[in-house]
Amino acid sequence: MISNVYDDEVPQVVTIKETIIETPTVKTFVFPWKITEDIHPGQFIMVWDLDKEKPMTISIIDRENNLMGITVRKAGPFTTNLYENVDVGDKIGIRGPYGHGYDLGKYKKVLAVGGGSGIASLAPLTSFYDNIELISAASTKDELVFVDRFKNIDVEVHECTDDGSQGFKGFSTELAENLIRDGDYDIIIGCGPEIMSYKLYELSLKYDIDCQFALDRFMKCGLGICGQCCMDDTGVRVCVEGPVFDKEQLGQLSEFGKYRRDASGSIVK
Ligand code: FES
Repeated sequence: MISNVYDDEVPQVVTIKETIIETPTVKTFVFPWKITEDIHPGQFIMVWDLDKEKPMTISIIDRENNLMGITVRKAGPFTTNLYENVDVGDKIGIRGPYGHGYDLGKYKKVLAVGGGSGIASLAPLTSFYDNIELISAASTKDELVFVDRFKNIDVEVHECTDDGSQGFKGFSTELAENLIRDGDYDIIIGCGPEIMSYKLYELSLKYDIDCQFALDRFMKCGLGICGQCCMDDTGVRVCVEGPVFDKEQLGQLSEFGKYRRDASGSIVK
């Protein structure tokens, strides 16, 4: 898997250069960052704001203009403040990037499935690889992320909504199975709700193709020190060995698709 050199363990203050309202609940923030060769889609950064730090997947990797972006869905106080109060000219703290991203070098045709804001982890792949086909899924038309961004690139995008207001009506996993059955993909990758990733993992077993999925666990240090993000049974750290895991690794994670741990370490099903 692809790894990043950990040369930035101290937060750097960046000034927001551009914001994009993606949906009524999702917003993208773009800021200057030196884009080096060791920054890859699927990695994450720690974002510091309101005296707290949270991991955020990198949604924009712009080598030409040395810009990076994150895409945030407002949920708790941290992300709601980012969505509602942080704008162009404001400053946030960033450290990273961290973790292992997607490693797609040996594959001929990739089916990438993004559920909701999980598409943020996959979108940068379209400027690194030319063999990506995307499923962008959301509950309804208004919550589809990056609709305009995908219009401007030469990538096949299948839209999918639970209520059928745009694209395929149903779950992304149903659409993925339809495409896999008729297609010649040699890997399925994804990021989104873990139940979605787990069902896609089961499809990878059923159709005997490879898979890589980005997992989300509560993180404190983001550096592999605190142990907060370790997964049963192997103890792999999502912040170092992940967040993107391959088929063999996923098969060893007994908690994958079943439970996670909260900030106190208690199991939440
Ligand atoms: S968040 Fe501390 S080890 Fe992963």
